[in-house]
Amino acid sequence: MISLRPNVRMGLVGLALTTAGMAASGEEPALKHVVPKGLLIGAAVSERQVDGRDAIARRVVTRHFNSVTPENLLKWRPIHPQPDEYVFEPADRYVAFGEDHGLTVIGHTLIWHPQTPDWVFVGKDGGRADRETVLSRMRTHIEAVVGRYRGRIHGWDVVNEALNDDGTFRETPWLETVGEEYIAKAFEYAHAADPEAKLYYNDYNLWKPEKRAAALRIVKQLRQRGLRIDGVGEQAHYMLDSPSIGEIEATITALAGSRVQVMITELDIDVLPRDPEMRGADLPKQAEFLAETNLYPNGLPKAQQEQLARRYADIFTLVMRHRDKLSRVTFWGVTDGQSWLNNFPLRGRVNYPLLFDRQGQPKPAFNAVVDVLKGS
Ligand code: XIL
Repeated sequence: MISLRPNVRMGLVGLALTTAGMAASGEEPALKHVVPKGLLIGAAVSERQVDGRDAIARRVVTRHFNSVTPENLLKWRPIHPQPDEYVFEPADRYVAFGEDHGLTVIGHTLIWHPQTPDWVFVGKDGGRADRETVLSRMRTHIEAVVGRYRGRIHGWDVVNEALNDDGTFRETPWLETVGEEYIAKAFEYAHAADPEAKLYYNDYNLWKPEKRAAALRIVKQLRQRGLRIDGVGEQAHYMLDSPSIGEIEATITALAGSRVQVMITELDIDVLPRDPEMRGADLPKQAEFLAETNLYPNGLPKAQQEQLARRYADIFTLVMRHRDKLSRVTFWGVTDGQSWLNNFPLRGRVNYPLLFDRQGQPKPAFNAVVDVLKGS
């Protein structure tokens, strides 16, 4: 993994940003009041937002959104770090926060390869655990976590990111130990633990035709086994210029064609360049790339601000056109300051991917989205 330390003057960032000309927070229309009926509008939230340490973002969430997804706190490692140890308190607070504010509470995520402790895949002899052991751990985990919030978590990302962009199965420890059936098993156990909860498959780049086709095969195969899948989420970690609106549209219509709820589950727009080679690059090259691509350490210039607003307007125009097919649009984070894109794919860049700035003020992109939602 990338292990560079932040090398930008993060402290100056907030001061440099202004929101002149924009409505003050609290006066602007609430997103949840301008979305079409039946479409949920959500944000991924952190522990700090739920417990109020990040009061700015917390206020934005309760004012603007009617659904929440936990950014990290329901993932395997934080909630089930050791075989006999569960840490439920943050998740308990998250679910209570959602209920207290009338939000539709989403669970993310049961089965994924990152943020899963190594012990899950280690056998008695210290080598790889056998299939039965891993499946029994999977079942125990899903029963404990889904069971605890039965009737309170509306829907679960049961399996996350199981596919490569070419549509083959990603080589994860799950695939290695259990085989392709791990996906079906996860859906089976999740359904047993809460028969009422909606069950989703979630992945990124489903706008790529091969990957999308593979996701649709997963849906079909689950159904052939008599299992239920209610929805597919396209994460939607997008760039300013990619994917095209046509590619996103093809995704929505193709998924809707297989009678699942279609959701945009992790929407954000990365305004900084990415280097396809960067993950494999040596550290000096990464440091150089970081310095070269941390383009806006002191605020997003007007032209890029407007470009971002147009991109969001285009995406929400599409959302409106297909509102009968979409059940939810969720942003991956609340304010620019706490977005994961400040640290991904390189640590320590200053990014501007969301609708609210570092002070929780609505950005031009917010106003553009509201205009589209209001039909003006
Ligand atoms: C990310 C979180 O935002 C980060 O805080 C964490 O360090 C890594 O995971 N796809 C997903 C999310 O499904 O769970 C990821 O969230 C982003 C990519």
